[in-house]
Amino acid sequence: MLSDTLKKAINEQINKEFYSSYLYLAMAAHFDAQALPGFASWMKLQAAEEWSHGMKFYEYLYEVSSSVSLSSIAAPPSSFGTPGEIFEQVLAHEREVTASINRIYEAAKAEKDPKTELMLHWFITEQVEEEKNAQDILDKLRMSGNNPFGVMFLDQHVLGARKGG
Ligand code: FEO
Repeated sequence: MLSDTLKKAINEQINKEFYSSYLYLAMAAHFDAQALPGFASWMKLQAAEEWSHGMKFYEYLYEVSSSVSLSSIAAPPSSFGTPGEIFEQVLAHEREVTASINRIYEAAKAEKDPKTELMLHWFITEQVEEEKNAQDILDKLRMSGNNPFGVMFLDQHVLGARKGG
């Protein structure tokens, strides 16, 4: 079983993960419209990964005989800035997700709920990777100064080279 507090927090986290998926899909659509297929492909893979994060929380609720309650997903922005500005947004967003997961972890610790703590270990590790990936791309974009040739190089050889998962 799960306390009402943790059940509510995990259901809210499902919504945050699905919103992340929607946000990255909106960014993919932006990059597709800008003829940057590598950036768009990276964002589509990221959107799929976020959906799987939401599903991981969903499955956990059933594993512990709790219940899923889905709420509406907010609309993502419809316009975006430069690739550099977009990756600043990605990094800020991932930091918020990390903070949210950390809050659930603290709540699980306070409630002496080790199974939820253990489940969250996977997400804590995943967030380290998520922030690092966003930071690495942001660093490269800063290095290129949003120069069109630099952006095209990153599109083809870095973001476009990302494989699924
Ligand atoms: Fe599911 Fe990017 O955090």
